Amino acid sequence: MSRELKIEAARAALEYVKDGMKLGIGTGSTAEEFIRLLAERVKGGLDIIGVPTSERSRELCEELGIKLATLEEQPELDLTIDGADEVDGELSLIKGGGGALLREKIVAAASKSMVVIVDRSKMVETLGAFDLPIEVNEFGLAATIKAIENVTGAMEIDCPLSIRGGKNDPFYTDGGHLIIDAKFGRILDARTLSRMLLEIPGVVQHGLFIDMASVIVVASKDGNEVITN
Ligand code: A5P
Repeated sequence: MSRELKIEAARAALEYVKDGMKLGIGTGSTAEEFIRLLAERVKGGLDIIGVPTSERSRELCEELGIKLATLEEQPELDLTIDGADEVDGELSLIKGGGGALLREKIVAAASKSMVVIVDRSKMVETLGAFDLPIEVNEFGLAATIKAIENVTGAMEIDCPLSIRGGKNDPFYTDGGHLIIDAKFGRILDARTLSRMLLEIPGVVQHGLFIDMASVIVVASKDGNEVITN
């Protein structure tokens, strides 16, 4: 996804931001373009309060002078704007390529609506070509991996799993958890998979966002397309 298209998608998403809004602010390179454009509008007088979905986004917002709050202070948000790794025709998403999926999901769930900014390369017929990030507790890691394998086995899916960063130097999320990247290839029944993964005690959350996005802004060389639910 070129930087120009990220900026285009981010600019289009700004249209949804209104004065006085409490705004969930996403994570990733596309969300960062949005943060930069938002900061320009804030300098121009737009009055919003942002709730960032990661420490990375919080730092950038602070640097650029965007007023922030936590979900403790603002537990109900008007809108969240975030990127995604894959989007299907039902507006289901895979997120978490940047490792922020847990906070992204908590913030999106606290928002009345969610606008997702992507380019056309992220639109897919079936989710799963992008590895599904599964956030897990470090305690009992081997048992949790076994349980995930049992889920994929029960669904008759051959799905290699890898610990993000590797066993010796694992990636830690903002919440202090690990990420297992699951190479599904094709996820034919995302709802069942979501439910089964969440039944595993060591799974904190996964990157399938189902029934959460209300609008997808798809940037392409031929202009933006807006898909709504
Ligand atoms: C962060 O954890 C992710 O969910 C991002 O929203 C997603 O990976 C999209 O990132 P890019 O905009 O950098 O592609």
